[in-house]
Amino acid sequence: MTDTLGDMRRTHHCNALSAGDVGSEVVLMGWVQRRRDHGGVIFVDLRDREGMTQVVFNPDREPAVHRKAHGIRSEYVLGVRGVVERRPEGMTNPELATGEIEVMVSELKVLNKARTPPFLIENKVEVNENTRLQNRHIDLRRPVLQRNLMMRHKAAAAARAFLNDQGFLDIETPFLTRSTPEGARDYLVPSRLNPGSFYALPQSPQLFKQLLMISGFERYYQIVRCFRDEDLRADRQPEFTQVDIEMSFAGEDDVMYVAEGLIAAIFRDVLEMEVKTPFDRMTYHEALSRYGLDRPDTRFGLELCDISDIVAESGFNVFAGAVKKGGIVKALNAKGCADFFTRKEIDDFTEFVSVYRAKGLAWIRVKENEWQSPITKFFTEAEKKDMAERLDMEPGDLVFFGADQSAVVNEALGHLRIHLARKLWLIDDSVYRFVWITDFPMLEYDEAEKRYQALHHPFTAPAESDMEKLETDPLSVRSRAYDLVLNGSEIGGGSIRIHQKDLQIRVLEALGMNREEYAEKFGFLISALDSGAPPHGGIAFGFDRLMTILCGSQSIREVIAFPKTQKGACLMTDAPAGASRIQLDELGLKVVRPK
Ligand code: AMO
Ligand code: AMP
Repeated sequence: MTDTLGDMRRTHHCNALSAGDVGSEVVLMGWVQRRRDHGGVIFVDLRDREGMTQVVFNPDREPAVHRKAHGIRSEYVLGVRGVVERRPEGMTNPELATGEIEVMVSELKVLNKARTPPFLIENKVEVNENTRLQNRHIDLRRPVLQRNLMMRHKAAAAARAFLNDQGFLDIETPFLTRSTPEGARDYLVPSRLNPGSFYALPQSPQLFKQLLMISGFERYYQIVRCFRDEDLRADRQPEFTQVDIEMSFAGEDDVMYVAEGLIAAIFRDVLEMEVKTPFDRMTYHEALSRYGLDRPDTRFGLELCDISDIVAESGFNVFAGAVKKGGIVKALNAKGCADFFTRKEIDDFTEFVSVYRAKGLAWIRVKENEWQSPITKFFTEAEKKDMAERLDMEPGDLVFFGADQSAVVNEALGHLRIHLARKLWLIDDSVYRFVWITDFPMLEYDEAEKRYQALHHPFTAPAESDMEKLETDPLSVRSRAYDLVLNGSEIGGGSIRIHQKDLQIRVLEALGMNREEYAEKFGFLISALDSGAPPHGGIAFGFDRLMTILCGSQSIREVIAFPKTQKGACLMTDAPAGASRIQLDELGLKVVRPK
């Protein structure tokens, strides 16, 4: 058998050599970043996963090797043997870790050739994302993606080390399973042996980890893939990874304590940074009231302020009418921005909030002697005085108003707040602000489906003190759920679970399920809860989202080796794809093409 490598074995990575190695013979292996011809001497930047080293082919020293080097092109795979030399005066490159040295090549092996790559292997590539995803194996050679995946590895290793140390057991749970309700659609897998039946890929291991607690494992974790068929956004993938945790004999504080320790360990190992624990806590109600969203970015102010009571009787029908219909009026004061934005930009903000179903966006420019705005005329002096006081309106300010049902106003102004903060450079990208959101409502009413839905999932325990309102006033019941928010991104969520059969049945009934339905869907859980279930709770972190923030990336796709597009496609393998007649027949399936 011929061995391409022969007796050549790598001695160093391409980031490793420095002036201290001058004189040693080394072997490097990697890819050709660039080849330059300089009056006979050929320079090659050789790249591997750790870095880059300049290797030199000199016709005066090694004529045969030099001749061979003429054929080298970008992305060829080379093995080179040579001696480390100090670069000549004036030729050093302080940008490069190995910039003081070069390797004078005495033996060259071209381990493989390569087609001209479709784009340059550099951090800044001017090519659309689809081309990159079609050539992901080449895209992944770019240093920034190499770094991201190495950081991801480090974070996973840190998480495992921390959880192992805390007595958590890594236990695998099935992928071919039944529906696990987390609010998205399931991916279904048809069963050949049971035609007409389907497995569902897990949206999370939720029920299995609870069963493991009932089995007595006490502390479980898994770095696990989850599958959700939902509309994709910049921070969502159809398959994504959770750091999934469950523990017995624990309350909220115990889970949060472990979660904080885990995050601190990851930050320490990946960013060499100490994060301050415990993290701040804020109720869901406070988050919505001050920031409009249940995942507030607390790195900057620009908080929302309710003025419903001031304008309820005002002559401005948009405001007064909203309050009369049970809605609210809230405002956001962009301090000192009266002349910062043009009329056109203000109109664009109206367009921006319309995406969140806002019907308009009123505004006031506060001038020295007057309020410049189409709506000033509708308010009495007393109303203006109250508004000015509550909103701290001073000359130079620009105030925006939203009036509608509270859900619409909060969402629209909550997003406008972030949009404005970006435009005004209010966000410091170098800080990490964590906050726990607690006291979520247990249920919400789904207008389209005309029934209640669990805000977290149906296995989350209601707050002890609200328990008796489950049947009489379900929307007022708070749950024992908590989310961890980092810089405005929900990076984790969990809850204390229901561990008693009767309570689980009451909650499923509150969700509109009858006995038959819950027996069919969750009979195994109900039966398990009746077999000695310990009190338990847990949390799952969105590992991809966390990594997006740790890597300072713009999109979740930059921290996943082989991500899917916004349309759920893998452009490398061209998945999803059709199935053959034979396969479909075996599964008893018939495809009805949408018109
Ligand atoms: P939850 O549904 O909140 O909880 O999910 C936990 C975390 O997973 C991340 N996440 C996603 N990341 C990328 N793409 C997606 N499509 C996606 N969906 C969710 C989020 C989220 O905070 N079983 C419960 C956890 C528990 O109660 O212990 C669960 O899955 O960062
Ligand atoms: P109109 O009376 O509809 O011309 O609106 C007067 C101003 O109020 C405009 O600046 C609108 O953008 C704004 N406006 C209309 N509806 C709303 C709303 N629901 N919330 C906040 N501002 C609104």
